Amino acid sequence: MRALRWRGKGDVRIDTVPDPKIQHPRDAIIKITACAICGSDLHLLDGYQPTMESGDILGHENMGEVIELGSEVTNLKIGDRVVVPFTISCGQCWFCQKGLFSCCDRTNPNAELAAKAMGQSPAGLFGFSHMLGGYSGGQAEYLRVPMADVGPIKIPDSVTDEQALFLSDIFPTGYMAAVNAQIEPGDTVAVWGCGPVGQFAIASAYLLGAEKVIGIDRFPYRLQMARERAGAVTINYEEVDSVPDVLKDLTAGRGPDHCIDAVGAEGHTHGVQYVHDRAKQMMRMQTDRPIALREAINSCANGGTVSVIGVYTGLIDKFPMNAVMNRSLTIKTGQCHVHRYMQPLLDRIQRGELDPTFIITHHMPLGDAARGYDIFNKKLENCEKVVLQAA
Ligand SMILES: NC(=O)c1ccc[n+]([C@@H]2O[C@H](COP(=O)([O-])OP(=O)(O)OC[C@H]3O[C@@H](n4cnc5c(N)ncnc54)[C@H](O)[C@@H]3O)[C@@H](O)[C@H]2O)c1
Ligand SMILES: [Zn+2]
Ligand SMILES: [Zn+2]
Repeated sequence: MRALRWRGKGDVRIDTVPDPKIQHPRDAIIKITACAICGSDLHLLDGYQPTMESGDILGHENMGEVIELGSEVTNLKIGDRVVVPFTISCGQCWFCQKGLFSCCDRTNPNAELAAKAMGQSPAGLFGFSHMLGGYSGGQAEYLRVPMADVGPIKIPDSVTDEQALFLSDIFPTGYMAAVNAQIEPGDTVAVWGCGPVGQFAIASAYLLGAEKVIGIDRFPYRLQMARERAGAVTINYEEVDSVPDVLKDLTAGRGPDHCIDAVGAEGHTHGVQYVHDRAKQMMRMQTDRPIALREAINSCANGGTVSVIGVYTGLIDKFPMNAVMNRSLTIKTGQCHVHRYMQPLLDRIQRGELDPTFIITHHMPLGDAARGYDIFNKKLENCEKVVLQAA
């Protein structure tokens, strides 16, 4: 089959590779009908995620048609249309039983490697480095889906591929960012990053009762989408002296009740702070640039919540623990517990409460995936979200 493989920093290519096979009775094989490129894939492309190996197949936002089933997968049938969560979870362990699906402790065969870096291991993920399982991703014609009896959900005929696809990751992820922010009706929420995750966090904050949501980014087309499609008030951080000051002005001097970091490891800013953070990375004093995270913490109202949904890949410097502690802030975070939110969000799509297709700006054949990575990474052609089709 054809698949998109990581060959090294900044280098992804379509290659011909062996078709995946059933390896375990709980596996399924799906023929990919649509998949997407995620901001998390950019951390892999840019070389931030440790333990990638040349030849790894990327892609964790996947849907398709079931073509083969292991003997223990009885809830699916050949021919079913399914969307697949990016987290691989057993459904049975202590963590899965508590709904902490991205913390499943049975799906990472390289758990020791992850524990060395993080103390303990989270779940395995599709297309996401060897430390997180070394599972092949779905930017390909076919995908092996482990734990297929608990992960994929069936999509009704009335819901299109494009409406369903983002249930694999970014819609539940943005939604979990808003849930973790602990929003109460009438609250004000600020969201750093108006990429796909930020857009869904903004829309979800409104679904959960926020009165005002403020989106922060620097790309005018992304800010426009946040205003016109997700409903936010926006701040272009390159056009203001101080984002925290503007946020205070918008919130009667208190700061937002809840702050969501939808940027993660590759934060950017204008001015000297960016130079400092890049220099520290080069000198290996930190692996990630927590620029949005620091600003979210410093901006948040006393007693407020900081919800970190952006991905971090290693260690950070200058984490303002004094602000968190002295100002009674709560931090909540995690890779999304996708399984928890897929069905309720599919129900919301079917009820017409939110049409996730608003973020799609580019459709491409799988063969053009490398170009898709390039324009999404460099934010060219007003690119917000690339959907790839195998055909
Ligand atoms: N926790 C999870 O389960 C999960 C799932 C999917 C994605 N993610 C993560 O969410 C993050 C966003 O993903 P995406 O697909 O939207 O990526 P993206 O790259 O399209 O968007 C990131 C946005 O952040 C903006 N940004 C950078 N620095 C900023 C700053 N200082 N202030 C405000 N905005 C700033 C960029 O301009 C960009 O528009 C990534 O870190 C990704 O890995 C997490
Ligand atoms: Zn993702
Ligand atoms: Zn589990």
